[in-house]
Order: sequence, then structure tokens, then C-alpha cells
Amino acid sequence: MDFEGKLPRLLVLYASQTGNAMDVADRVGREAERGGCPSVDVLSMDAFDASTLSKERMVIFVVSTTGQGENSDSMKDFWKFLLQKNLGHRWLDGVNFAVFGLGDSGYQKYNFAAKKLDKRIIDLGAKPVIERGLGDDQHSSGYEGSLDPWLVSLWNKLNHMNSAVLPRISDIFDTNKRTLGHSKYRITYHSSSNGLLLDLSSFTDFHGFEKMVEMARSMSPVAQHHSSDGIQHCSLRMVTNKRLSKGDPSRDVRHFEFEFLSPGYEYQVGDVLEILPSQNPIAIDAFIKLCNLDPDSYITVQPLTNYKCSFESQVNGCTNLNPIKLKTFVALTMDISSASPRRYFFEVMSFYAKAEHEKERLQYFASAEGRDDLYQYNQKERRTVLEVLEDFPSVQMPFEWLVQLVPPLRTRKFSISSSPLAHPNQVHLTVSVVSWTTPYKRKRHGLCSSWLAGLDPHNNREIYLPAWIHKGSLPPPPPSLPVILIGPGTGCAPFRAFIEERVIQCESGPTAPMLFFFGCRNQENDFLYKEFWLSHAQKQGVLSVEKGGGFFVAFSRDQPRKIYVQHKMKEVRERIWSLLSSGAAIYLAGSSTKMPADVTSTLEEIIAEESGASMESASRWLKMQERAGRFHIETWS
Ligand code: 2AM
Repeated sequence: MDFEGKLPRLLVLYASQTGNAMDVADRVGREAERGGCPSVDVLSMDAFDASTLSKERMVIFVVSTTGQGENSDSMKDFWKFLLQKNLGHRWLDGVNFAVFGLGDSGYQKYNFAAKKLDKRIIDLGAKPVIERGLGDDQHSSGYEGSLDPWLVSLWNKLNHMNSAVLPRISDIFDTNKRTLGHSKYRITYHSSSNGLLLDLSSFTDFHGFEKMVEMARSMSPVAQHHSSDGIQHCSLRMVTNKRLSKGDPSRDVRHFEFEFLSPGYEYQVGDVLEILPSQNPIAIDAFIKLCNLDPDSYITVQPLTNYKCSFESQVNGCTNLNPIKLKTFVALTMDISSASPRRYFFEVMSFYAKAEHEKERLQYFASAEGRDDLYQYNQKERRTVLEVLEDFPSVQMPFEWLVQLVPPLRTRKFSISSSPLAHPNQVHLTVSVVSWTTPYKRKRHGLCSSWLAGLDPHNNREIYLPAWIHKGSLPPPPPSLPVILIGPGTGCAPFRAFIEERVIQCESGPTAPMLFFFGCRNQENDFLYKEFWLSHAQKQGVLSVEKGGGFFVAFSRDQPRKIYVQHKMKEVRERIWSLLSSGAAIYLAGSSTKMPADVTSTLEEIIAEESGASMESASRWLKMQERAGRFHIETWS
């Protein structure tokens, strides 16, 4: 197999959810260029016309798997296109490809998106140049542990196929030959804004606020951009922030209530709310100072050359770029205070280090030998961009590079825990405040949850939040559908919404039974929404036995032996089976990596025992239920 002497373009297509796949794709593109590949394009899948895939000669796919084996959002349309039956088995004849996946082997469907894509592309006639590579978050040095050797094999293989046009391995890995090149963006500085005043500290009304958030994020090359399909952008005002858990302050679960700032937003139970967190203003000031920039200047950001991404189409579509206050741009788009920078960040820093010892350390971190040490210093310790810059004070990195390389400020998604019928114009969340201790005993806090927990809606200043509403993976059950809900911990969030909704539906006619299994550590401290469940489990309530339903709670740590939701399910296996036989749907939500698999195998056991079938047929039956839309899972980490 070779490329018959022609110079093929090397296309790197990525599907990224949190930015890791984009980062890998960028690295692949960079190495290819460094190795002398004459034509390289790095594109997000949602910026690529899938129908032209057959015209490519060499494609490298980098795709991440999210949740329980799902494709990332930017892969969804591409994947839908590839699944079309009429494409035929020869559609990709002549296309060579390689796939690298990013996933987490703690999950059952490990790297599912990459595996599915690999298989489908082969079915369509394309030829893999090497076996797919699978990056694993559980690996002692993260996904790069398998990426490094995979890339070496890939470049070696491509060298063999056509040494004249494809990367020369020796050039890629020779650190002495590395040059920096240019950042992909141009920043223009303005003394003031001539159009809309894009300044976070001085917007006057909430419409201005929404507009400003959209503008800032559309100007950022790395921030995630929402397609308009079915996603509503809204602004919220926080009205309630209440702690639900008691005891140990490090285990903090909150109930938040928000009001829509303008009417007309619609959501359904089972939907998801995406929130853009705010960063600490002191950290933002410190970052801007470290960069030697004027926080009050205005900037515009534009892509240079022919670098293509979904951002480019937005920028090109926007002929008159409105300058934005630098401080506002940083606050809304660049994660300087929670995410760790990537490996390439260290490499670029090394070019700007004035102190020799800093330069050497940065070069070591960016080299293959330094990979594990960098992983310990950076990811394991969750070192932030600000901390890294403070650790290397002689580095003065131009803002162009920072815009390109600082991880984007990510939105966070939460299952909505309210029914719009019960709370018109409001949306509620149930959020566990994330905190952990690093190997060097540094206390870390999740950016979004701890920011939310720290807000006081009863203070004088109103609290506005940028947010987006999405369809979740839990469709709202119609009133006539019997349901079995399983949601330990904050997994109860969507089910609070389901139950609230059914309480209202009950008023206008008969409703089907509802069983709910909740689990928590102990009765005293984290029995979330205790009164709510118990009141509906009482006589004639939607969870009551009289209505064919039930409420069951497992306290895992109130006794020496662990009791989990699945143990409670086994105790009432006949009821579960009788509901399942009458067409009930199962909904499972929660945050543990192991919980969904454990509950699923308990369901299989119950089905097998009660129906007299083998475990294999019980498992097949459950899979059929999933395909028929009667078994839904939503998990988060
Ligand atoms: P544990 O922390 O005592 O192990 C909400 O987090 C509840 O889910 C807690 O009571 C937690 O128990 C429990 N949990 C942890 N792992 C689980 C699993 N694999 N299956 C079901 N419940 C689990």
C-alpha cells in the first residue's frame, strides 16, 4: 500500500467533548508538519462535510468517548451520516485511516466511540494503516501513555508508505530541531469599544449580559460553541442556595433554585442545564498582571492563515468583530484557575523562558522522557495555568499563545431536578460540591460546584448566570407509563423532577405506578429530600403502595455491611418483575463509575430469576428494552 507518489493531504478529524481530543489532534497536526508533511488540516468533525470523506486519501481520527459510551456532541452528525445504509461497502475505497480514541477503562463501554468508528470506517471500505490506539484516563500517565508509542508507530508506518511526503520520525522527535512557529491567532488591541460595550463589570441589563457572553465565547478559538439545534441559551438569576446534607463539611450537597431572567424558555423533566462558571476575580487580575497586559484594553481575536475549526466559520460569518474588554474575555473564556495546561503549553513556555534552569525544566517536561514527571506535576496535582505561570516567573508568553493554549473555560452540565409544571419560570439543580486532595495533599475544589455553593442570593447584588438547556438522555415518561427509577446520591435529581411532574399529572387523571430506589451513606447526613420522598410515599401519594408504587432507600454506611440500591431492589424483585412485565420503563441515574454496571447486573439477575430465563437471555432482554427506549441511563463523574 502506498500513495502512488502523490502528495496527499493529511486530514486530522477530531471529536472532542472536553478539549483532550482537540489537543491530541493538534499535536498530530503539529508533528506531521514538523516531520515535513506538506499539507495538513486539523478539523473538528462538526466543521467537516462528512459526504466528502471519500475524497480524502489519509485521515487520522481522534475521538473521545463520554458518559456511558456515548459519542461527543461534535461527532453526532458525522456519525449519523456514516450510518446511512446507502453508502455501501466500497464508499471509502482508497481512503487510508488511523483512529485514536480517548476514554476511561473504569467505564463499561471503554472507548466505545473510537471502536465503533473504526469498525464502521472499515465496513465502508477504508484501510487502517495501523491498529487503532486507545488512550486511557486510568493509565498512570493518562492517555499520553499510549498516545506516544501509537504516534511513533503511525509515523513509522506512514514513512514506509511514502517516505518522500510524510513525516520523518527523526525530525519529529528531535527536540533540537524544534522551532516555535506562530500562534494561530492574531490579537488586535483597541483603546475602547466602538460598538456594544463588552465589559463584564458594567453591563446594564440582562439582554446585554446574554449578548456579551455569546460574543465573548464566539470570539474565543477554543471555547465550546453550541450549535443552535434544540439548545436554548438563557440567563438565570439564583434565588435559593440551600445545603441538603449535614455533618462533614467536605461532603456538601446543595439545592439551587434559579429564575429565568426573561420568559419563554421551555424545558422538560429529564433535560440538562449547562452552566458557565465564574472564576475568582482575584485570580483573573493576577493572571493579567503576570501577562503584563492592561486589563482595561479591548481586544479582537481572529484566526491567522487557513487554520480551520468551527470557530473560524463563526468569525468569518461575523464581518464586524466587536472589541471585547480583555478582562471580560479572560473571565468568560480562559480557564486559568481550575484546569491544568496541556503538554504543548510547557513546550511553548520553554521558548519564552529567560532563566536557563526554567527553560531546561520546561524542555524536559515537554520531552518524551519527562512525560511521567509532567503528569505528576501537572495533571495529578491539578496545577492551574496561573500556578504554572507563577512557578516559571521568567516566562513571558505572548497573549496570542495564551489564547490558543490556555484550556477553555468549560461549561458544566447538571440534570435538572425540577418540573416546569411544578415551578413555572424556575429551574432547580441538585449539586454535589466537588473537592479532593491531591497526592501532595493540596486541597482542590471543583470550579463550578464550589462557585455555585459560595453564592449568596440574599446578598444585595443579583446573581446572574449564563446557561444553556439541552435534551438529556432521560425522556419524560408519559403519565400512563409505569416507571422504575434508580438514583443513588445526586442521581435522585432527575427523579425529583419526574415525581413532581407526576404529582401534578395525578390531579387531572389516573397515572401509572412509580417505584423509586434511592441510596445514600446514612440516614442522618445525606438522606437528600427526605421529607419530599416520604410525603409522596404516604397513602395515595405517587410513590405509595396503594398506587402500585413504592419508595426504597439504602443507607450504605449505617451498618457494618454495605447496603446499596441493588440490595433493596432484590428485596422487592417480584414487584420489579411484575412492573417490567406490564411494560414499565427503567431509568437509572447517578455518579459512580461502578454503580450503573452493578445495578444493571442486578436487574439481569432479577429478570432471570423471576422469569426463569438464563442470565444470557435476561441480558439480551434488557438490551432489547434499551433499544426499545424502555431502559435509560444518565451518569456523570
Ligand atoms: P458508599 O459511598 O458507602 O460506598 C451515593 O453515593 C450512594 O451510592 C452512597 O451510599 C454510596 O455508597 C453508593 N454507592 C457507591 N458505589 C455503589 C455501587 N457500585 N452501586 C450502588 N451504590 C453505590
